[in-house]
Amino acid sequence: MIIDTFVCKYWTKGDYKMKLVFATGNKGKLREAAEILGEGFELVTPADLGIHDEVEETGDTLKANSILKAEDLWRRCGCDCFADDTGLEVDALGGDPGVHTARYAGESKDFNENMDKVLHELNVVECESHMAADYGLKIKKMPRTARFKSVVTLILDGRKYFFEGTLEGRIAKQKSGNGGFGYDPIFIADEYPDRSLADITEEQKNEISHRGKALRAMAEFLKNRG
Ligand code: IMP
Repeated sequence: MIIDTFVCKYWTKGDYKMKLVFATGNKGKLREAAEILGEGFELVTPADLGIHDEVEETGDTLKANSILKAEDLWRRCGCDCFADDTGLEVDALGGDPGVHTARYAGESKDFNENMDKVLHELNVVECESHMAADYGLKIKKMPRTARFKSVVTLILDGRKYFFEGTLEGRIAKQKSGNGGFGYDPIFIADEYPDRSLADITEEQKNEISHRGKALRAMAEFLKNRG
């Protein structure tokens, strides 16, 4: 299906609105992106264009997967579009789940199973370090520090542009909160040290988040381009 790029930009109520296709089927991501980008943009999803299957994320970096998603969409709809690939890096797990964040606990991409696996793996590492201490080995306390990283690939008139954002924090001992999506219930951002990302408002999350930073940089770029 080829959609003429002309239909991707249009005027409404006297204001210029830019219509972009966002390569996601994740309702949480879509809601956040629409809020972050604000009124100057209208987001369309692949599903709105009749595209329901997702490209396989076979890249070995977030950027590679972000490009895969954006290029696949561009090939299929020919429209200005962008994709976001996000990973959670946990220091005590050597940077895992990283590029495997979506499928950490298996192909079902189940949020709860993914979070349970992170909590379990951290418990294992902490137990190992306590046992080593019992044998008289000097072990540094295991940090629970972690970060979310987002890489956004924008394809505009066939050219690619990249935007990145990071949110530093740590992994909680247990899940908390009903907001957000994905790993939010186990992530505590440095800016809100007493609450998980799922405990703060969407507005507070968007202000500090990896996705907020990357998408605001993209919006700034598009506005400056005119
Ligand atoms: P992807 O970017 O769609 O491949 O997402 C990777 C994984 O990270 C999925 O399991 C998402 O649910 C999760 N994820 C992406 N963004 C966030 C976020 O802002 N908070 C928590 N989890 C997220």
